[in-house]
Amino acid sequence: MALVARRGGLAIMGDDDGAEVPMRRILAAVAVVVVAGLIAFGVIAWRPSIAPITRPNPSSFPAALVARGEKLAAAGYCASCHTVRGGQPFAGGYAMPTQFGTIYSTNISPDVASGIGNWSEAAFKRAMREGVARDGSHLFPAFPYDHFNKLTDADTGALYAYVMTRPAVSSPEYKNTVPFPLSIRALQAGWKLLFFHPEPFKPDPVRSAAWNRGAYLAEGLSHCGACHTPRNALGAEKRSKAFAGAPIDNWIAPPLDKSNPAPVPWDQAELSAYLGTGVTRYHGTVAGPMAPVVHGLAQLPPADVDAIATYFATLNGTVGKNVDPAPIVAEALATDRIGTGLTYDPAARLYAAACASCHFNGADRANPLRPQLALNNALNLDDPTNLIQVILHGVGAKDGAPGVVMPAFSRFSDADVARIANWLRATRTGKAPWPDVEKKVAAIRAQGSERK
Ligand code: HEC
Ligand code: HEC
Ligand code: HEC
Repeated sequence: MALVARRGGLAIMGDDDGAEVPMRRILAAVAVVVVAGLIAFGVIAWRPSIAPITRPNPSSFPAALVARGEKLAAAGYCASCHTVRGGQPFAGGYAMPTQFGTIYSTNISPDVASGIGNWSEAAFKRAMREGVARDGSHLFPAFPYDHFNKLTDADTGALYAYVMTRPAVSSPEYKNTVPFPLSIRALQAGWKLLFFHPEPFKPDPVRSAAWNRGAYLAEGLSHCGACHTPRNALGAEKRSKAFAGAPIDNWIAPPLDKSNPAPVPWDQAELSAYLGTGVTRYHGTVAGPMAPVVHGLAQLPPADVDAIATYFATLNGTVGKNVDPAPIVAEALATDRIGTGLTYDPAARLYAAACASCHFNGADRANPLRPQLALNNALNLDDPTNLIQVILHGVGAKDGAPGVVMPAFSRFSDADVARIANWLRATRTGKAPWPDVEKKVAAIRAQGSERK
């Protein structure tokens, strides 16, 4: 076949029989296929608008239902994404940077004009299950509907009762910076076809009730995988790498599977302590984007937190293993003295001056309020990001152990932060050095601290 120009138009010449098809006809055929494709896609993408309602009277919702919704909203961190720093709860506007631009959370207070005051329960449930707004437009998966679709009808109903009984707050419209054509919401239907397979949570009859409860919360409402599972180029969680660890908000959400590098394995008791209180004996305290998660989970009954711990202790293989932490802890405690004596190593001297006063532990057991650095994953992960974050920004009184503060060392130069980080990695872990730490410090400093 040859593409040739003829009589002012284009025609395709067959090699042997010389038959000609005028370009007009080919273009017409292509146009028909494109239009048919668009119509088919339109049919797939189209969702009806659900009629607006008059804002329900808050007193029409039973108090017990609202109270249940409050706990569920805490464990789904609705307020943490739907509130800007210092702003009115649920009024939206929280910026979520994604690789496709910034997406702002919307106002989910019951304000009729700018919130969801005129959304029926059916519209709310469809949003949670399918990621579709009341007007029929597709929502971006920055809203974790890819997890919320697992919720039972009763739980979604309780959430509706809770948000509809909050004070109505008026807000401006927030403009996403997702560029055209990705900003076309109908295209989200294509993303959903590829990556979104909604189904209610199905209990596994072989597992215990606690495991199933934990799986329900972790996979659905508390969407642990939204941060701890790596995403593909189109922003969908890689199911084959569930909980393998991932970068999030300039932090690293460590692996929660067997590949977690903590010297003392994360068993059920340590997971329960971490998720329920934010403080552990062997793994340090909660910081960064994980802190609001723990604040939310703390509102759940302790049995629910233990259930989540059961789920992850099964996933990471610690259930039934009973590793004795004593020798691992003894080895870690022995590293405490490195760099605290007379030394001319500039890194050791910086550590002695800046850190040792709090992190040195002369006792024979780990002290939860002074994390044992050799045991901490800030030092043991393949990536120094979390250690740099903790050094530059500290751990506030509200995060980690309540009332206890790890000061911020933002006045240290990039070189000094890198010096301490590299030295701790070398003296407290047997692991390979991190590459380019100083550059990473500069990059993390430039991003600033997103947190309050
Ligand atoms: C990780 C952040 C995040 C969390 C957690 C989150 N949301 Fe959202 N939510 C968003 C974003 C972002 C949008 C807007 C998506 C868009 O514009 O396409 C949104 C949209 C919504 C909408 C649609 C509102 C509208 O005006 O179209 C509803 C309803 C909603 N969220 C309810 C909830 C509830 C209930 C919870 C807690 C169970 C919750 N969200 C937790 C980020 C979040
Ligand atoms: C908003 C993102 C986000 C969500 C949601 C989230 N995590 Fe995390 N998680 C993180 C980050 C970031 C860290 C690192 C924090 C640190 O080093 O202090 C972390 C740390 C952890 C750790 C400590 C791991 C280690 O090796 O140090 C555990 C355990 C954990 N998360 C479990 C969970 C569970 C269970 C859930 C769901 C109930 C969850 N996370 C939901 C971001 C998140
Ligand atoms: C004034 C006491 C103090 C000083 C000085 C101090 N820390 Fe901390 N550090 C803490 C406390 C307390 C925590 C536990 C966090 C919390 O509960 O607020 C902590 C936590 C940590 C963690 C673990 C965070 C986690 O997610 O588990 C690391 C790593 C750390 N510090 C490193 C350092 C380094 C490096 C220095 C020196 C540059 C330093 N600290 C100086 C008190 C201190």
